[in-house]
Amino acid sequence: MNDISVQAMRRLSAAGGVEMPAMDLSKPLSEPEKQLVRDAFLEHHILVFRNQKLSKEAQAAFTEQFGELEDHVVRQHDGSKTPQVHTVSNLDADGKPSYKPLTHGNYFWHTDKSYHAKPSLATLLHAIELPTEGGNTQFANTGLAYEALPEERKQAFADLKVVHSWEANRRNTKNKPATEEEKRERPPVTHPLIRTHPETGKKVLYVGIHTSHIVGKSMEESRELLDELADFCAQDEFVYSHEWQPGDLVMWDNRTTMHRAIANYSMNAERRILHRTVIKGDDIPH
Ligand SMILES: [Fe+2]
Repeated sequence: MNDISVQAMRRLSAAGGVEMPAMDLSKPLSEPEKQLVRDAFLEHHILVFRNQKLSKEAQAAFTEQFGELEDHVVRQHDGSKTPQVHTVSNLDADGKPSYKPLTHGNYFWHTDKSYHAKPSLATLLHAIELPTEGGNTQFANTGLAYEALPEERKQAFADLKVVHSWEANRRNTKNKPATEEEKRERPPVTHPLIRTHPETGKKVLYVGIHTSHIVGKSMEESRELLDELADFCAQDEFVYSHEWQPGDLVMWDNRTTMHRAIANYSMNAERRILHRTVIKGDDIPH
């Protein structure tokens, strides 16, 4: 089946993304299917599985075939811990669609959990309810962006370290400030500005909204450079913009992409609801 399946894949953009062959993800995958997924994940970074209908339990079971499920730092509106399979939505505290949903940090370019010492390896979103149009998720290929940097900038950035923190995320997204408990639970971490993908060996720019500052540089100078580099990664030629279809499950590699949702839909009138799981990653060598 492997050869047939590879032929059935459809590349979605020059920056990454592939539509996977038909598979029923509610059942355990065969070993060849798992290998196909692993290979496509490293080659295309963003995998799109169409026409799935997964319960939260089934999404967890599918995710666990590729790694260990991760817990989440952000608390639910009622203060309870966020479940491993949780809901991403544009709903407010009253459960209504809103321009000001309970969380909006996902509308800024970021790589998931870069404020962890071991940032998330992969993230999976399953479309449950979608607006009639828009509400795309965009992915920027940070490896292609790194390759496109002028050589002197590659060298200048080679040894720079960046502090990432949950607190910086809340500040940068103008969200309610991190609580003392959240800060204790997720203290700031330092990562290289240029990260090496542990499986492909390719270098990527490791930036996004969770960054606080560059070690040894002022906040102002740091913000300017970090924002400039995030914008550089987000150029059209490095971006795949995913138009959601009902039943889509999208799985991506956080080690070589940034992503964001875009508010190009009737946020205050239509519901956009997705179920999310995350796979734990490894230490980033310095
Ligand atoms: Fe995210």
